Amino acid sequence: MRLLVTGGAGFIGSNFVHHVVAHTDDHVTVLDALTYAGNRASLAGLPSERVEFVHGDITDAALVSGLFAEADAVVHYAAESHNDNSLHDPRPFLDTNIVGTYTLLEAARRHDVRFHHISTDEVYGDLELDDPERFTESTPYNPSSPYSSTKAGSDLLVRAWARSFGVRATISNCSNNYGPYQHVEKFIPRQITNVIRGIRPRLYGEGRNVRDWIHADDHSSAVLTILDRGRIGETYLIGADGERSNRDVVERILTLMGEPAGAYDHVMDRAGHDLRYAIDSTKLRTELGWAPRFSDFEAGLAATIAWYRANESWWAPSKAGVEAFYAGKGQ
Ligand code: NAD
Ligand code: DAU
Repeated sequence: MRLLVTGGAGFIGSNFVHHVVAHTDDHVTVLDALTYAGNRASLAGLPSERVEFVHGDITDAALVSGLFAEADAVVHYAAESHNDNSLHDPRPFLDTNIVGTYTLLEAARRHDVRFHHISTDEVYGDLELDDPERFTESTPYNPSSPYSSTKAGSDLLVRAWARSFGVRATISNCSNNYGPYQHVEKFIPRQITNVIRGIRPRLYGEGRNVRDWIHADDHSSAVLTILDRGRIGETYLIGADGERSNRDVVERILTLMGEPAGAYDHVMDRAGHDLRYAIDSTKLRTELGWAPRFSDFEAGLAATIAWYRANESWWAPSKAGVEAFYAGKGQ
């Protein structure tokens, strides 16, 4: 199969490309604009006969149309992905997440290409800490941030193009990913690289907020499963039962890195900060037979810490700029 992967030089997209090369015979073309979040080094070492890189923007309709004409299936990861950036400057989120997805859908329609859209659990808003319910495929949309509202908008575009134009699309909404190649602006790599640099980790507010962590490689196996066996027009939630408070995560990072568990600072909270996400992935598990492989969060976290220790040249160029951005916001 010839796969076109948008955003394949980003965190989850590059993990997916590595996973595809390791587990299938598919050929991958990566389309990526190499924004601040994209890094060609995340694809280093992959065989050139299996992986082709195209530097370009998903809003470029002519480029996109040519690439769709050559693809059997498209997996769409490209996005502006960081909530804090969306609170600072929402415009790129509208351009890439809304207009970019629209541009891809028009090409999928024209060329009748199978299309899988990668989305987030944040489209459902947040849950109370003691809510016994988790998000399911029928939870109403209720996004909180400019980022999550543009992802919600992109999901609705995909649903409309599937229903109105017969685009052969599926959607997945996944919880928080961790693993190698994640940008240092995000919570887990920010704290790991802070500790490596001798900076105290930063916890927003009280740190009671809960995220439902899944290893990026498990996200990749779920996406391949949906691409292979998912029903056209359906949405699948992806999660690995990994709920943890931010405080718990930061304390585990510190302990695993040989520091006192309490050696972190509380900083200004995020505006509109979602309290808790939690995914019920029963549909994906029972209908398609998927299961996560990384069931031990602490072991996955230890491997991720080892990766950041071993790959300082990958993240060091971004670190100072990210910390300057946060310092300007009291975070
Ligand atoms: P990321 O920010 O690490 O990577 C995004 C990639 O998209 C980068 O390589 C960037 O260069 C590229 N890109 C951005 N704008 C582009 C454009 N206009 N044209 C072409 N390429 C462009 O993001 P990520 O964390 O890997 O997230 C990937 C996808 O997964 C996103 O759609 C996100 O909403 C979704 N998602 C992320 C998580 C998570 O925990 N990170 C969880 C669920 C879903
Ligand atoms: O749920 C899926 C979403 O997970 C994806 O759609 C997003 O693309 C991805 O960025 C992620 O969103 P979050 O906002 O949950 O991730 P982030 O890593 O920014 O923050 C995780 C939690 O940690 C959140 O509650 C905010 C908090 N935080 C974050 C940073 C950067 C801190 O306490 N301190 C920090 O320094």
